[in-house]
Amino acid sequence: MQPEATERLQKIAEFVLARRAKTEAGHHKEYTAFDYDYRWRHTLRVVQYGKQIAEAEGADIELTMAACLLHDISKFDDVEYGREHGRVSARIARPFLVTLGYTPEHVNNICFSIAVHVDDKADFEYPITIESKIVSDADNVDRFGAYRLLLQFKDHTEKYETLVEKAKNRLLTLKKYRSENIMETPTGERLFNRQLDLQISFLEHLVEDSKLTVEV
Ligand SMILES: [Fe+2]
Ligand SMILES: [Fe+2]
Repeated sequence: MQPEATERLQKIAEFVLARRAKTEAGHHKEYTAFDYDYRWRHTLRVVQYGKQIAEAEGADIELTMAACLLHDISKFDDVEYGREHGRVSARIARPFLVTLGYTPEHVNNICFSIAVHVDDKADFEYPITIESKIVSDADNVDRFGAYRLLLQFKDHTEKYETLVEKAKNRLLTLKKYRSENIMETPTGERLFNRQLDLQISFLEHLVEDSKLTVEV
Protein backbone atom coordinates (compact mmCIF):
# COMPACT_ATOMS: atom_id res chain seq x y z
CA MET A 1 0.00 0.00 0.00
CA GLN A 2 1.18 3.54 -0.81
CA PRO A 3 2.48 5.56 2.18
CA GLU A 4 -0.28 8.17 1.56
CA ALA A 5 -2.90 5.44 1.85
CA THR A 6 -1.44 4.21 5.15
CA GLU A 7 -1.41 7.81 6.39
CA ARG A 8 -5.08 8.30 5.47
CA LEU A 9 -6.05 5.06 7.24
CA GLN A 10 -4.14 6.16 10.34
CA LYS A 11 -6.03 9.47 10.31
CA ILE A 12 -9.32 7.60 10.03
CA ALA A 13 -8.38 5.40 13.01
CA GLU A 14 -7.52 8.56 15.01
CA PHE A 15 -10.89 10.06 14.04
CA VAL A 16 -12.75 7.00 15.35
CA LEU A 17 -10.68 6.90 18.54
CA ALA A 18 -11.27 10.62 19.16
CA ARG A 19 -15.03 10.04 18.96
CA ARG A 20 -14.72 7.13 21.38
CA ALA A 21 -12.60 9.22 23.81
CA LYS A 22 -15.11 12.09 23.75
CA THR A 23 -18.11 9.89 24.58
CA GLU A 24 -16.16 7.81 27.09
CA ALA A 25 -15.04 10.96 28.92
CA GLY A 26 -18.62 12.27 29.00
CA HIS A 27 -19.99 9.14 30.74
CA HIS A 28 -23.31 9.75 28.97
CA LYS A 29 -24.08 6.29 27.80
CA GLU A 30 -24.85 3.17 29.76
CA TYR A 31 -21.66 1.78 28.22
CA THR A 32 -18.97 0.20 30.35
CA ALA A 33 -15.26 0.41 29.62
CA PHE A 34 -15.61 -3.13 28.26
CA ASP A 35 -18.19 -2.03 25.65
CA TYR A 36 -15.87 0.63 24.25
CA ASP A 37 -12.95 -1.76 24.29
CA TYR A 38 -14.95 -4.52 22.63
CA ARG A 39 -16.22 -2.20 19.89
CA TRP A 40 -12.76 -0.91 19.05
CA ARG A 41 -11.13 -4.36 19.03
CA HIS A 42 -14.03 -5.67 16.88
CA THR A 43 -13.41 -2.75 14.49
CA LEU A 44 -9.70 -3.60 14.23
CA ARG A 45 -10.44 -7.27 13.51
CA VAL A 46 -13.01 -6.31 10.87
CA VAL A 47 -10.32 -4.15 9.21
CA GLN A 48 -7.96 -7.14 9.01
CA TYR A 49 -10.65 -9.51 7.74
CA GLY A 50 -11.68 -6.84 5.23
CA LYS A 51 -8.10 -6.48 4.02
CA GLN A 52 -7.70 -10.24 3.67
CA ILE A 53 -10.94 -10.60 1.71
CA ALA A 54 -10.22 -7.53 -0.46
CA GLU A 55 -6.82 -8.95 -1.42
CA ALA A 56 -8.31 -12.32 -2.36
CA GLU A 57 -11.28 -10.81 -4.23
CA GLY A 58 -9.29 -8.13 -6.08
CA ALA A 59 -11.19 -5.25 -4.45
CA ASP A 60 -9.79 -1.82 -3.54
CA ILE A 61 -7.89 -2.53 -0.31
CA GLU A 62 -7.67 1.03 1.00
CA LEU A 63 -11.36 1.81 0.42
CA THR A 64 -12.35 -1.47 2.06
CA MET A 65 -10.13 -0.86 5.10
CA ALA A 66 -11.36 2.74 5.41
CA ALA A 67 -14.99 1.58 5.43
CA CYS A 68 -14.21 -1.20 7.93
CA LEU A 69 -12.58 1.32 10.30
CA LEU A 70 -15.65 3.57 10.13
CA HIS A 71 -18.45 0.98 9.86
CA ASP A 72 -19.51 1.17 13.54
CA ILE A 73 -18.32 4.71 14.40
CA SER A 74 -21.83 5.75 15.48
CA LYS A 75 -21.63 3.09 18.21
CA PHE A 76 -19.18 5.45 19.92
CA ASP A 77 -21.87 8.13 20.23
CA ASP A 78 -23.93 8.55 23.36
CA VAL A 79 -27.01 7.54 21.37
CA GLU A 80 -28.16 4.04 20.45
CA TYR A 81 -29.16 4.05 16.77
CA GLY A 82 -30.08 0.38 16.42
CA ARG A 83 -30.45 -0.75 12.80
CA GLU A 84 -29.82 2.82 11.61
CA HIS A 85 -26.25 2.70 12.92
CA GLY A 86 -24.74 1.95 9.50
CA ARG A 87 -26.40 4.92 7.81
CA VAL A 88 -25.61 7.21 10.76
CA SER A 89 -21.96 6.06 10.66
CA ALA A 90 -21.82 6.90 6.94
CA ARG A 91 -23.19 10.40 7.62
CA ILE A 92 -20.55 10.94 10.33
CA ALA A 93 -17.79 9.67 8.03
CA ARG A 94 -18.66 11.63 4.87
CA PRO A 95 -17.46 15.18 5.76
CA PHE A 96 -14.32 13.79 7.40
CA LEU A 97 -13.43 11.69 4.33
CA VAL A 98 -13.70 14.81 2.16
CA THR A 99 -11.04 16.52 4.33
CA LEU A 100 -8.65 13.62 3.64
CA GLY A 101 -8.70 14.43 -0.08
CA TYR A 102 -10.66 11.40 -1.31
CA THR A 103 -12.43 11.92 -4.63
CA PRO A 104 -16.26 12.21 -4.54
CA GLU A 105 -16.38 8.72 -6.10
CA HIS A 106 -14.19 7.25 -3.37
CA VAL A 107 -16.15 9.04 -0.63
CA ASN A 108 -19.37 7.56 -2.04
CA ASN A 109 -17.82 4.10 -2.28
CA ILE A 110 -16.66 4.15 1.37
CA CYS A 111 -19.91 5.68 2.66
CA PHE A 112 -22.04 3.19 0.76
CA SER A 113 -20.16 0.23 2.31
CA ILE A 114 -20.63 1.71 5.77
CA ALA A 115 -24.30 2.57 5.24
CA VAL A 116 -25.42 -0.86 4.01
CA HIS A 117 -23.45 -3.09 6.39
CA VAL A 118 -26.41 -3.71 8.74
CA ASP A 119 -29.43 -4.22 6.52
CA ASP A 120 -28.37 -3.61 2.89
CA LYS A 121 -29.99 -0.17 2.81
CA ALA A 122 -28.31 3.17 2.14
CA ASP A 123 -29.95 6.59 2.26
CA PHE A 124 -28.41 7.59 -1.10
CA GLU A 125 -28.41 5.98 -4.53
CA TYR A 126 -25.33 3.96 -5.35
CA PRO A 127 -24.67 0.65 -7.12
CA ILE A 128 -23.67 -2.36 -5.01
CA THR A 129 -19.87 -2.69 -4.96
CA ILE A 130 -17.46 -5.51 -4.20
CA GLU A 131 -16.14 -3.37 -1.32
CA SER A 132 -19.60 -3.09 0.26
CA LYS A 133 -20.03 -6.87 0.08
CA ILE A 134 -16.63 -7.33 1.73
CA VAL A 135 -17.30 -4.93 4.64
CA SER A 136 -20.52 -6.80 5.41
CA ASP A 137 -18.73 -10.17 5.18
CA ALA A 138 -15.79 -9.02 7.34
CA ASP A 139 -18.21 -7.77 10.01
CA ASN A 140 -20.07 -11.09 10.04
CA VAL A 141 -16.88 -13.15 10.15
CA ASP A 142 -15.84 -11.38 13.35
CA ARG A 143 -19.34 -11.61 14.83
CA PHE A 144 -18.96 -15.40 14.64
CA GLY A 145 -15.42 -15.53 16.02
CA ALA A 146 -14.14 -17.56 18.95
CA TYR A 147 -14.27 -14.53 21.25
CA ARG A 148 -17.95 -13.89 20.53
CA LEU A 149 -18.65 -17.53 21.35
CA LEU A 150 -17.07 -17.03 24.78
CA LEU A 151 -19.07 -13.85 25.34
CA GLN A 152 -22.33 -15.57 24.40
CA PHE A 153 -21.88 -18.29 26.98
CA LYS A 154 -20.00 -16.49 29.74
CA ASP A 155 -23.07 -15.87 31.91
CA HIS A 156 -24.26 -19.47 31.71
CA THR A 157 -21.20 -21.49 32.71
CA GLU A 158 -22.41 -21.96 36.28
CA LYS A 159 -25.85 -23.20 35.23
CA TYR A 160 -24.93 -26.43 33.52
CA GLU A 161 -28.32 -27.56 32.23
CA THR A 162 -29.19 -24.12 30.90
CA LEU A 163 -25.79 -23.97 29.25
CA VAL A 164 -26.26 -27.32 27.47
CA GLU A 165 -29.77 -26.32 26.31
CA LYS A 166 -28.41 -23.03 25.03
CA ALA A 167 -25.63 -24.89 23.21
CA LYS A 168 -28.13 -27.25 21.56
CA ASN A 169 -30.27 -24.33 20.35
CA ARG A 170 -27.25 -22.45 19.10
CA LEU A 171 -26.09 -25.54 17.19
CA LEU A 172 -29.37 -25.59 15.23
CA THR A 173 -28.80 -21.99 14.10
CA LEU A 174 -25.12 -22.51 13.31
CA LYS A 175 -25.79 -25.68 11.29
CA LYS A 176 -28.50 -23.86 9.33
CA TYR A 177 -26.01 -21.10 8.46
CA ARG A 178 -23.42 -23.74 7.56
CA SER A 179 -25.81 -25.35 5.07
CA GLU A 180 -26.55 -22.05 3.32
CA ASN A 181 -24.38 -19.66 1.35
CA ILE A 182 -25.09 -16.52 3.29
CA MET A 183 -21.92 -14.50 2.76
CA GLU A 184 -21.58 -12.16 -0.19
CA THR A 185 -18.11 -13.16 -1.44
CA PRO A 186 -16.42 -16.58 -1.85
CA THR A 187 -13.55 -15.58 0.48
CA GLY A 188 -16.01 -14.24 3.04
CA GLU A 189 -17.90 -17.54 2.84
CA ARG A 190 -14.69 -19.52 3.41
CA LEU A 191 -13.71 -17.44 6.47
CA PHE A 192 -17.26 -17.53 7.82
CA ASN A 193 -17.47 -21.32 7.45
CA ARG A 194 -14.17 -21.64 9.31
CA GLN A 195 -15.73 -19.73 12.21
CA LEU A 196 -18.90 -21.82 12.06
CA ASP A 197 -16.93 -25.10 12.00
CA LEU A 198 -15.00 -24.07 15.09
CA GLN A 199 -18.15 -23.09 16.98
CA ILE A 200 -20.06 -26.19 15.87
CA SER A 201 -17.20 -28.50 16.86
CA PHE A 202 -16.83 -26.84 20.27
CA LEU A 203 -20.55 -26.86 21.07
CA GLU A 204 -20.95 -30.45 19.88
CA HIS A 205 -18.19 -31.46 22.30
CA LEU A 206 -19.98 -29.61 25.07
CA VAL A 207 -23.26 -31.43 24.35
CA GLU A 208 -21.48 -34.80 24.00
CA ASP A 209 -19.70 -34.32 27.33
CA SER A 210 -23.02 -33.56 29.01
CA LYS A 211 -24.16 -37.11 28.20
CA LEU A 212 -21.38 -38.36 30.48
CA THR A 213 -22.70 -36.50 33.48
CA VAL A 214 -24.94 -39.38 34.55
CA GLU A 215 -25.07 -41.21 37.89
CA VAL A 216 -23.19 -44.51 37.89
FE1 LIG B 1 -22.43 -2.63 12.78
FE1 LIG C 1 -19.48 -4.29 13.34
